[in-house]
This record gives sequence, C-alpha cells and structure tokens, in this order.
Amino acid sequence: MEQRIIPFQKPYRLETARPLAWQVLASGRTEGDGPMTARCQAHLASQFSPHRSSIQSSPHQIQQAAQSIFLVTSGTAALELAVQALKLQPGDEVIVPSFAYPSAANAVLLAGGTVVYCEVEPVHLTLDPARLPLHITPNTRAVILVHYGGISCDLAPIHAICTAHDVCIIEDCAQSYLSTWQGRPTGTFGTFGCFSFHGTKDVVCGEGGALLVNDPSYLERVRLFRQKGTNRDAFTSGQVAFYDWQSVGSSYAPSELAMALLLSQLELAPEILSRKRHLFDRYVQQFTWLLDKPACQAQIAGHSTHREPDGANGHLFYLLLRDPATAAALIRHLAAAGIEGRTHFVPLHESPFGRRFIRPANDFSVESGLGQRLVRLPLFAAMSEPEQDQVIAAVDAFFQGDA
Ligand SMILES: Cc1ncc(COP(=O)(O)O)c(C=O)c1O
Repeated sequence: MEQRIIPFQKPYRLETARPLAWQVLASGRTEGDGPMTARCQAHLASQFSPHRSSIQSSPHQIQQAAQSIFLVTSGTAALELAVQALKLQPGDEVIVPSFAYPSAANAVLLAGGTVVYCEVEPVHLTLDPARLPLHITPNTRAVILVHYGGISCDLAPIHAICTAHDVCIIEDCAQSYLSTWQGRPTGTFGTFGCFSFHGTKDVVCGEGGALLVNDPSYLERVRLFRQKGTNRDAFTSGQVAFYDWQSVGSSYAPSELAMALLLSQLELAPEILSRKRHLFDRYVQQFTWLLDKPACQAQIAGHSTHREPDGANGHLFYLLLRDPATAAALIRHLAAAGIEGRTHFVPLHESPFGRRFIRPANDFSVESGLGQRLVRLPLFAAMSEPEQDQVIAAVDAFFQGDA
C-alpha cells in the first residue's frame, strides 16, 4: 500500500483568492497601494487598532488608524522600515536575540547600526528579561523582540526595562500574527510591530508583510522610505500636486495581486488559527504526558507550551532534544514513517557571519546547538486529528525504543 505523506505544512484554501485575484486582473491595475491594499489595511486596522494605546476604537478612528499600518513586500521589509525610521547614527546599538531570523540583524546593519546580542530564556526561547539589562549601554537605541513560534515574549519586565532606559521596542511578529499577551495582540506593544505573510506563515500571500507604526511621530519617515524616498503617498491622497525625491528610501509596496491573496487569507484567519490552536493544544497535552516518562526525559529537554495565560496562535510546535544527533535520528525516523519534521534557524552567533557580533557579556548556554536540537512537527490548518495522532504515535515509538 502506498504510504501517505504528512507534510510539515500546507497553506490553507488558497483557491478562495480566485475572485479577488480575478478582480485585480480585470481592473488592469496590478501595482501597489490600490484597492486590495486598502482593504487589507482596513482589515488589519479593525483587528489591531482597538488594542493600540494611542488609538481609540470608533469607526472613524479605526479608519484613521489604517494610515499607520503599512503593507510591505515581506516581514524582512517591515523590519528594515522600522529600523530605518530610527535614523541610527554611527555607534548606535540595537539589541537582537541571537535566536532570531537573520532579517532582524540585517535590518540593523543596513541602517548603519551595531548588532548586540541578548540571550533567550530556556522555557519559551524568547528574549530573557533577566539578561537584557546586561547589554544596554548609553548607545542602545532599540531592542528587537522575536515572539518565537507564536509565543509572546515576557513583555511586562521587558517593557519596564526599555522604558527606564528610553529604548524603543520593535516587535518581530513574523510568527505571531494574532497571538496575544494579556489579551492584546502582539505587535501593539512596541513602537513598531512587524508581520510576515510569507508562504510558510499562517496567513500567506507568497511574499508579503505589514508594519504597524504605533507612535505617530515615525509615520512620515516610514511613508517616505517605503515609497523610494518620495512623497508619493501625499500625492496619491491629493495633498500635493506632484511628488519628488525627499529622502533616502526604497520600494516596499506589494503588488495588488499579492494583496488579493492576502485579503482572502485574512478573511480565513479566524478559521486557520482556531484549527492551528486546537492542534497545538493537542500536541501540548500529548507531549506533557510523554515527558513524564523517564526514558523521554533523558532525551527531551522541552517542547512548545503557552506562556500562561497568554494565547499562542499555534504557529509551530517543537520538541527540544538534548543533543543534535537524537534530533537528526528523530527526523529520519519520522521520514521513514512518511512524516516531515524539520529543525529551525541556527542561532545568529553560531552562523558564519554572526560570530563577529559576540561580546564578552554574552553567555549562550541556552542557545548552544538550538538550531539542530529543535524538531518541529507537522502543524497546518488542514491537518486532521488522525494525521496528528499518527505523528504523535511515531514520536512515541521513537522514544519508547519501538522504532
Ligand atoms: C522570526 C522571523 N522574522 C522575520 C522573518 C522574515 O520574514 P519574510 O520571510 O517575510 O521576509 C521570518 C521568516 O521566516 C521569521 O521567522
């Protein structure tokens, strides 16, 4: 009998984008900042704006607030725009967890800043508030927080430390669309919230992202930089008769076709995320039970869990193995059972380019080998419970020595 493959992930119901995509094609207007972009902006504003402290929630205020949500070509572009808006001077430092995607550190370097690593805590693998003060200097301008795997960082102590030192917070929410911290969505706490709608995320548009600007004093810089350094936005909204080159900038507006796909996915987001959260919770339950077995404790250091009482979006579920060889063996074992497991990103300080930013104050005992010790299990909205049970049984067999 042919073995059915359980993939690592699969986008959800992309076909629902057809009518919207066709609308764009029929209109002949495919370039950015058209009607589909405006609809995505309005959709995101209705989700996020009631939670942004600087913005109240009347329909008019939400409509106004859409002006501070920028659709961009990727999560990377959102991070770049946020850091560019800080107008870093030579010597300015931005703190980044070493367990981050390279885009966060690249954004700092591209803006002329200096990357300073902070360690992550061992339970949720997000920036460790106890280590953060060790890396703050008079040159620190900002910290980039990664809500890894859809689990929010421990925002209360981090917020207090950043406020005390006048350090700006940039939230990397590439994996945490609609995750919450104390009932508020991630991306609404910092000065900036950066989202990714890359094809591997929960809500996808191929390549795309969004930037929430929660402090209106940065809006103008973001508008200019996103539009090639021109005041084209003011021209489009009828405020000026022509537009011209006003500052350094780049091109981050996504195509209307991508926005048509995104709009269809944003409309499906409640369904996508409730399915993923349900599967995430089932994994947590099963593996909490598995970890009670002494044979497993010897090999498994931990797994994804909620940061209670906060709401993970169910983006991914990982098992953290004690050594890379066991992780590799588990991935091979799953593959033999027709199940696709994957490791995750290599900590920046262990990558060839990232080693140069290590400082004497860094202690990477939690991060050591993290990229190769994590095994992410299949988790996607269309995954059925029997498929998930098959994954759980295969992992169980591996650790019970039945493999
Ligand atoms: C934490 C994190 N930040 C940033 C990015 C970059 O997003 P994009 O691929 O949309 O540029 C990713 C992508 O995987 C990510 O996981």
